[in-house]
Amino acid sequence: MKILIINGPNLNLLGTREPLHYGTGTMDSVLDALKSQYPDVQFDYYQSNVEGFLIDRLHQTLEKPCDGVVLNAGAYTHTSVALRDAIAAIKVPVVEVHISNVHSREEFRHRSLISAVCKGVICGFGLVSYRLGVEALLACS
Ligand code: DQA
Repeated sequence: MKILIINGPNLNLLGTREPLHYGTGTMDSVLDALKSQYPDVQFDYYQSNVEGFLIDRLHQTLEKPCDGVVLNAGAYTHTSVALRDAIAAIKVPVVEVHISNVHSREEFRHRSLISAVCKGVICGFGLVSYRLGVEALLACS
């Protein structure tokens, strides 16, 4: 089983960015934990601050398929029709994840343009959201 984890803008700063919302853990620690928790799963990780690069990476799954994508699109969740169209255009299931509970935050974070084309949504469990996203893909594959 191959799972691709994609992080969008500003998520390269996990560990130091707004710790009240995102905690102090790093993405490296998340990936290390996932690799040891799921030794039979092959994880690939991609992060970009650039909308088009995220879209390109999603498109790559058409040529080189994986079994599922765990996507934290960051702020593009709330703004990007292009990202939504990319998710709709690919064949692999995508689980939308958020570290913070976006529904308990500013109103502009309550709307996701991508949820409707994702398999499902997980939000508000801190960095554990990534593991729950993986778990959802494994349970539904
Ligand atoms: C986020 C929530 C978004 O609203 C925000 O723009 C992020 C991170 C989260 O993981 O909680 O960058 O996706």
